[in-house]
Amino acid sequence: MTEIHRGLAGVVADTTAISVIDEDTGILLYRGYPAPDLAASRSFEEVAYLIWHGELPDARQLQAFAQAERSQRQLPAGLTQVIAGLPLGCHPMDVVRTAVSWLGAAHPAGAEDNLATSIDLMAKIPTVIALDQRRRHGLRPVAPDAGLSFSPNFFHMCFEAVPGPDALRCFETSLVLYAEHGFNASTFTARTIASTLSDLHSAVTGAIGALKGPLHGGANEAVMAAFQEIGSAERVAPWLSETLSAGRKIMGFGHRVYKHGDSRVPAMHAALMALASGSEDGRRLLGIYERLEEAVHQAKGLYPNVDYVTGPAYHLMGFDTPTFTPLFVMSRITGWTAHVMEQLADNALIRPLSSYTGHPRRAVPAGQAR
Ligand code: COA
Repeated sequence: MTEIHRGLAGVVADTTAISVIDEDTGILLYRGYPAPDLAASRSFEEVAYLIWHGELPDARQLQAFAQAERSQRQLPAGLTQVIAGLPLGCHPMDVVRTAVSWLGAAHPAGAEDNLATSIDLMAKIPTVIALDQRRRHGLRPVAPDAGLSFSPNFFHMCFEAVPGPDALRCFETSLVLYAEHGFNASTFTARTIASTLSDLHSAVTGAIGALKGPLHGGANEAVMAAFQEIGSAERVAPWLSETLSAGRKIMGFGHRVYKHGDSRVPAMHAALMALASGSEDGRRLLGIYERLEEAVHQAKGLYPNVDYVTGPAYHLMGFDTPTFTPLFVMSRITGWTAHVMEQLADNALIRPLSSYTGHPRRAVPAGQAR
């Protein structure tokens, strides 16, 4: 009897040198460095460079890298028009996915410098997200500011203002912690597409589609929806028992790989605490956060994953809930594209087998003469 690994659980599909969950500590390592330590001391730009190049940049390399990113933020007029024509009610992930696909269509055929294309996507995706969030709120676009580094520029394009250090720190922490996570569903999608020798934009477009789902990146939005539904810490217990009796999953809890807690949560939680404790809404959300974490652990033995923390954090930074998963894209573009390049450097077509459960062989009945 063939052994079936549903959802490919436990299957080692290939090797990678980009990241690993350290067996001894359960901590996520990027190129050998603990991701929480990187989040504490390095900018997202430095971490993007590390993920792509394998080493942290020196001052000169960082300057050249940051300069390349800053100079490519502007969107081509054709793309701005396409975004303006998308239905206002469509999900922002559809907008980002369409934008990446458009950039692929506009990309000159044969000009395959995948690292340069990856930096271009890192630079342009935030502009797409900011433009779309403002469009949905009836606001005019704000042009990128090449004088600002990655995160401050993004806030400037979204809100015409750069927030205080707690919000900036919390945002950078989320970007660093979201950047890369092995053969997760969206990364594996990107690698599968790359393995057919398709192009990088196609691989990223597919990855965005995979990330959108609530069992993957879409969980950060679903967490916020649950917090809104719960409303206050006192409502946690009845909400949880109703939700579990209805057989619904609690979004932001559980993980395919981490079974004793997500190693990204403590750093993200510390950043959320610093951001949330200064406002009444923040303290209300922290109240729900703590009560629900405890209740879910008691009821199901599950631990929160990083989306449980980024959901309320992004809300407190002023982003509307449908923008949360696109924020994940802004960061994970680094991991996806690193994996595409790694796949192409030593490619094997990804093509698993399946065990057939359909009708046995049978004769085609006589049909009407053609
Ligand atoms: N809420 C309630 N029950 C959960 C749960 C959750 N968030 N996560 C797992 N479980 C339960 C399942 O119902 C299942 O119970 P059963 O054996 O009685 O049927 C058991 O735990 C195993 O769950 P399963 O979904 O098969 O595990 P998995 O390894 O395939 O799932 C996730 C991993 C992430 C898909 C799952 O934990 C989940 O759906 N979480 C919510 C979505 C989320 O936060 N995603 C972001 C991940 S970073």
